[in-house]
Amino acid sequence: MDVDSRPAGELELPGDDRTIVQLRERAFAAMERAYAPYSKFRVGAALLASDGSITEGCNVENAAYPAGICAERSAVTAAVARGNQSFTALLIATEAEQPTPPCGVCRQVLVEFAPRMTIISATRGGREARWSLEALLPKAFTPNSLDRR
Ligand code: THU
Repeated sequence: MDVDSRPAGELELPGDDRTIVQLRERAFAAMERAYAPYSKFRVGAALLASDGSITEGCNVENAAYPAGICAERSAVTAAVARGNQSFTALLIATEAEQPTPPCGVCRQVLVEFAPRMTIISATRGGREARWSLEALLPKAFTPNSLDRR
C-alpha cells in the first residue's frame, strides 16, 4: 500500500519509541532557543538523519521580516553543514494549540533531501499529528525535474 493512503496511525515511523522521545525533547529544547520577537511564535525542529544523528533548528526572525528563517530550514542547513544529506524524520515543536504542519517553502527544502520522510508535529499539551512529506507536497519539483532529456 502506498504510504500516503494509509490511515495516519499506520504511518511507518523510522526509529524506535526512544528515538521519537529524543526527537520530541530536542525539538522542544530548540523551541526554547527560538528568536521570534516579532511573531512571538516559537518553533523548534529536530531532524533525524539516516545515520541516526539528530540536528535541531529553531526559527530565527529579523527586523527585516523576510530575512527570517523557519525552524525546519534552519535544521536542514545545520544538518547539511554537519555532513548529513539524508533524513528519515522531522519533529516540529510549537506552542500552538493544534499541531502545525511545515510551511510550503520548508516542504520544498525538505523534499530535496528526504522525499519519503515522516513529519511529526507536536504541541506542548501532548497533541501530535503525523504526515508523510509526500502527502504534504505531492508532485514535487525535485532534482529529477531538472533532467532535460
Ligand atoms: N515558522 C516556522 O519556523 N516553521 C513553520 O513551519 C511555520 C512558521 C516560523 C516563521 C516565523 O518566525 C514564525 O514561525 C511565524 O510565522
